[in-house]
Amino acid sequence: MTSANFHADFTGQVVCVAGGATGIGAASARVFALAGAKVVIADVNLAAADATAAAIKAEGGAVRVVSCDVGDEAQVNELIAGILAREGRLDVAHANAGLESTQKATEASAAHWERVLNVNLTGVFLVCRTALRHMYERGSGSVIITSSPHAMATVPDAAAYAASKGGVHALMRALALEAAPHGVRVNAIIPGTIDTPMVHREVQVASSPEEQIKRLAASQPLGRLGRPEEVAAVGLFLASDAASFITGSAIPVDGGLMAALPSGPPLAYTS
Ligand code: NAI
Repeated sequence: MTSANFHADFTGQVVCVAGGATGIGAASARVFALAGAKVVIADVNLAAADATAAAIKAEGGAVRVVSCDVGDEAQVNELIAGILAREGRLDVAHANAGLESTQKATEASAAHWERVLNVNLTGVFLVCRTALRHMYERGSGSVIITSSPHAMATVPDAAAYAASKGGVHALMRALALEAAPHGVRVNAIIPGTIDTPMVHREVQVASSPEEQIKRLAASQPLGRLGRPEEVAAVGLFLASDAASFITGSAIPVDGGLMAALPSGPPLAYTS
């Protein structure tokens, strides 16, 4: 029988965080490592991944870095095969790698569209698919996908990103249904605006990046950006036995963002 208490002990377990070099993925790698897991960070940004791994090791965590472009099938196959050869098992896969890119749909090239979809949707598919094959054999495991509010509602000029995240949401549900009979759970996290390098890159296009950060913070009812570790904590929970009856779910970690209508505070009236 599994415990309903949240006991984040991943000692002896192996966790792969795809896109674990910076931001949410780096925080995820850290929380799993501090909970006792052996962590494999797979990323294209090796300098950042090495720095994240060094910081985790300095805190006593077990972590190694693998160069992997999640949109490349051969590289993802090699990643998972390498984990099985070296670590011997894979208990948790966090498909977190993503890139942002804004462009008017009417001005976007097919190459732009394919680049975003390749990383954000095909990459998630490849990581999940390849991890699930092994998890089915063992009859256990947990997959976490980092989605986005753009799966539900979006902003102008974000067609490819929004479509990729909408696809990720649908993919998560489809995989959860396939995985359930194998004792494997698949869930998503929907971060609000989180204080990561991605957001700091995005705001550079605003006339005042600082003001744009303030606007983003104010648009979340809790009045601030989220912290990467606040998202990672939910991934840790979802992968733990405390979440043993949760699959096919998408959990917002958004400071209330998606509960709010964009029209702002109500007018004072009495009906
Ligand atoms: P980030 O840019 O700090 O992290 C993204 C990571 O993915 C980086 O380590 C990057 O090197 C890696 N990556 C990019 N392309 C890759 C590829 N082809 N193969 C392997 N790794 C690759 O950004 P952040 O914010 O931490 O984003 C993480 C995830 O969270 C993304 O999927 C993003 O779409 C999602 N997200 C972020 C939000 C935010 O406010 N920061 C809000 C909603 C969703």
